[in-house]
Amino acid sequence: MNPKRILVTGGMGYIGSHTTVELQAVGYDVIIVDNLSNSNRDVLKGIKAISGVEPTFYQVDCNDQQAMREIYDRHRPDGVIHFAASKAVGESVEKPLLYYRNNILSLIVQLELMKEFGTKGIVFSSSCTVYGQPKKLPVTEEAPILPATSPYGNSKQINEEIIRDTIHSGVDFRAILLRYFNPIGAHPSAEIGELPLGVPQNLIPYLTQTAAGIRKELTVFGDDYNTPDGSCIRDYIHVVDLAKAHVVAIDRLLGAKATEPLEVFNIGTGRGASVLELIHTFEEATGVKVPHKIGPRREGDIEQVWADPTRANKVLGWSAQSTLQEALKSAWKWQQKITKPEN
Ligand code: NAD
Ligand code: WQD
Repeated sequence: MNPKRILVTGGMGYIGSHTTVELQAVGYDVIIVDNLSNSNRDVLKGIKAISGVEPTFYQVDCNDQQAMREIYDRHRPDGVIHFAASKAVGESVEKPLLYYRNNILSLIVQLELMKEFGTKGIVFSSSCTVYGQPKKLPVTEEAPILPATSPYGNSKQINEEIIRDTIHSGVDFRAILLRYFNPIGAHPSAEIGELPLGVPQNLIPYLTQTAAGIRKELTVFGDDYNTPDGSCIRDYIHVVDLAKAHVVAIDRLLGAKATEPLEVFNIGTGRGASVLELIHTFEEATGVKVPHKIGPRREGDIEQVWADPTRANKVLGWSAQSTLQEALKSAWKWQQKITKPEN
């Protein structure tokens, strides 16, 4: 029987590339569309080094309706995983129109073409950012969606509403929204990982670059929060665990099991860790010191959030398997790989 075809938009990116190798591992035929605005073509080599198969790849902008129509017509995907988006929170405040155009229009194009070509399901990359600072922790999918604090976060909320309204209009496909917490680490092979493009905004790439001596010192953005050690708390999930959640979600959408037309899942470990705890865990796990200092709070940071992943555990049969130590070790192995002079 011909393998089912999955269109992975943004598949050359951090989470998309890790999801691609997990889809290939269970026999899906992956077609990647990526405009390489935040990745590069070398990722294909990394994917092939892991899975043995170089996926079909189109360097196309997901907003290009005509180009995307040709791809849908040629490949008739059974399912879509929509990763393609701009994701830097700070940049979104400076360039809101770029974020609304890129993140919202690219989704609308996929939904319109899914209707036209009979695609059966979409998995959408959402984010725990839609919860803002939850009043109750751990946060469940029933927690209220609070007003977004950035155009990026707002684009995710708007996209969820667009999908909800589209499904409600009676289309012939189903959708799963995965609300990611904080993905970290890299594939254990170190063949793929988070590309170091520019000064890292996120904690782990900045931490590993500091450990590698690329950055002088890591600044902890505040230690005066109402948390045990004063630094912010997040739910850090190994990117491979996150990738595997997408495989389970697409299996569910394309499988025979009748499910609700729209389902939402928190994809986190269910465990919170503070910034200072992360630094100490990294140092213990790798034996490498991370020069760091306490600095002022970063504007817009929420104090603490971590997932209640019970629904994903029970309904998807998925749970995070990796420890924080394993995730941090994989991040360090990737950093060492890309820091080598020959790379
Ligand atoms: P990433 O930037 O590594 O990957 C996104 C990919 O999409 C990149 O390869 C980029 O080139 C591509 N892309 C962007 N706009 C495009 C367009 N118009 N057409 C085609 N390709 C386009 O980011 P990531 O960390 O892998 O995130 C993937 C998705 O997960 C995003 O939707 C992001 O908002 C979401 N997300 C990420 C995190 C995180 O912490 N990394 C957390 C929650 C949600
Ligand atoms: C984690 C913690 C910082 C850097 C962001 C987006 C979110 C999602 C994931 C896309 C915070 C602290 C960080 C540093 C630090 N992205 N920190 N020093 O802010 O939880 O989430 O990325 O969907 O939408 O908001 O992740 O890694 O930036 O920060 O102390 O140099 O590390 O204050 O507490 P965040 P992060």
